[in-house]
Amino acid sequence: MTATATTTGVFLDDVSQAEARTPLPPPPPPVPDPDDPRYAGDPAAYEADRQAAVAAAADFAAAARRRGDAVGQVVSTWLATAPLDMLQQLLDQPADTMPIFRPAIGPVVVARHEHVITCLSRHDQFTVDLYAPEMARATDDRTKDPDAFSHFLLGTDDEGLYRIDDVILRRAVSRADEQRLTGLARAAAEGWAREVEAAGPGEVDVVPTLARSLPLRIVGDYLGVPAPGAGEPSSLPGYCGGDAFPLDDALLRVYTFQRIAEGRVPTADDLFGWVKDVFRNTFNNFNPASPSFAEFRERGIVATEYLTAYIHALLATHKATLAAGQPVPDTLLTRLLRLQGAATAEDGLLARDVAALLGAPPPEGELQRRLSDSMIRSNVFGVVVGAVVNPQEATCRVVDSVLRLASGEYGTRPGSSYDDAVGLAALEPGDPGYDAGLRRLRSYALEGLRLRPQGEVLLRVCSVEGVELGGVPIRRGTPVFVGYAGAMRDPRVTPDPLVFDVTRDELLDDHPQMTERADETPQSRLYLQHGYGRHKCLGRYASEITLQESLRGLLRLGRLERRSELELDEQNLYARSLRIAVGGTAR
Ligand code: HEM
Repeated sequence: MTATATTTGVFLDDVSQAEARTPLPPPPPPVPDPDDPRYAGDPAAYEADRQAAVAAAADFAAAARRRGDAVGQVVSTWLATAPLDMLQQLLDQPADTMPIFRPAIGPVVVARHEHVITCLSRHDQFTVDLYAPEMARATDDRTKDPDAFSHFLLGTDDEGLYRIDDVILRRAVSRADEQRLTGLARAAAEGWAREVEAAGPGEVDVVPTLARSLPLRIVGDYLGVPAPGAGEPSSLPGYCGGDAFPLDDALLRVYTFQRIAEGRVPTADDLFGWVKDVFRNTFNNFNPASPSFAEFRERGIVATEYLTAYIHALLATHKATLAAGQPVPDTLLTRLLRLQGAATAEDGLLARDVAALLGAPPPEGELQRRLSDSMIRSNVFGVVVGAVVNPQEATCRVVDSVLRLASGEYGTRPGSSYDDAVGLAALEPGDPGYDAGLRRLRSYALEGLRLRPQGEVLLRVCSVEGVELGGVPIRRGTPVFVGYAGAMRDPRVTPDPLVFDVTRDELLDDHPQMTERADETPQSRLYLQHGYGRHKCLGRYASEITLQESLRGLLRLGRLERRSELELDEQNLYARSLRIAVGGTAR
């Protein structure tokens, strides 16, 4: 690929300047050995040398911190303003002299396909620990229950903690639901399209409408955390959307609320706002020097408390209904409650199943502990947080990319044009080629997202001393930005990476040594938007179907016309607006 023309500068020059501004003193001498013969009979000389060595080490450590912060700041700024440009510039470096970006001091950035795959599949070397502290806010308070778990599976690579939760959650959210999810997503997309059509020719903003409503429908109907309209009846008996409800004593015994004194039944706007605040605080708020840091942290804490109180209230309601032998909706939340029952059942079937998947029986009582009310609550919390922001952002990028395809911005391959996509979207169930057409629309969504990804890097930390990537050693404790958006345009794996081509080889891989994933479809090494390896997105089926159905609903409106660029918020993080004209004239 040719070198990127950039309007933003040269990433490596910015790093060099940051390094020049933060010089390092010479490496400190070792702390002297008091038994060294030169100190014999001269304790004052030894003490003077010892103090000098300690002071030099402290000076060096302080300078190294300043250097690490300065380089980290350059990486953060590029990630916030021109992430694809940064990854492309790194891909364009000669692979033999700069296989990865590893400054003398500071975070590592990897952009090449092989290294991205290594980082995401070697969870024994590159762990997700940096996500963990904020995730722990949704779990029980250890001062109230010293045995409380304080993890969610996306924040741990500890075998004992991760694997049982993974087995449990991947039983409750699985590809077996594909048909149901397609029905849900289609109903929501068609509902949106009907509203747009009923409003007549004009302009519509995709961000707060289509891109938000499908994920919220999945969260309500599939995951079991619904948002009623303001004043409309909710799943909590006697309460309507927007109503306050008291915090339950059972929850107060294990969880400490610091910000809220009562819960609230969320409307769609509330639920969306809570999830976004939690998501941003967990995944995009790592820089205490940022002017928004304190505000985003605070909003994350408040939202965590509201969402926790609401999920607990839903759980308590459905648990009582199940205990009374009454029907409940089939959702992630109620499936976990049913598994809770199965974990104590005398037939021991669930325990045997789990033992077979893990390769050994879980420790005595562990299954029940992992299916406690508290763990169900925090697992539903974590899954819901994953199921709103990413799908909304991804939908916006897919629409943006397909509009670029329509305006001729990308080269294409035969069968990958905008008009081909419109033809596929028009097919009805039963039409020849309908099933293959849906699969092709999914490829349009994933190819669109490859070129305009909703995120560019995943965060890992090197957890083992002496690990090498491309022959470059990485120190234990170093943060690693894993640039999957770069990997998806690495020309050594993706030929003609800037061409829109829905016929690419997806480079499918089975999930090696993961018996619990045996029933999943193989994972793609080409399309990495849903991650790769152990932490591969739990909601990948739900989300691919959401993207496919959003695209289908949109393309069925007729020829689309862009009315705005994809506008992002002040932090350049989340979509704010993407307006399109439908039906010809402005509304
Ligand atoms: C287009 C929409 C989505 C995108 C782009 C997306 C992306 C991702 C990515 C990249 C990861 C891996 C994170 C990492 O390795 O650091 C991930 C993990 C995860 N996602 Fe999604 N996601 C989407 C939708 C969903 C949905 C709908 C759900 C829930 C139904 C969900 C739940 C999760 C969970 C629980 C994990 C953690 C899995 C684990 O640690 O084993 N995501 N997602």
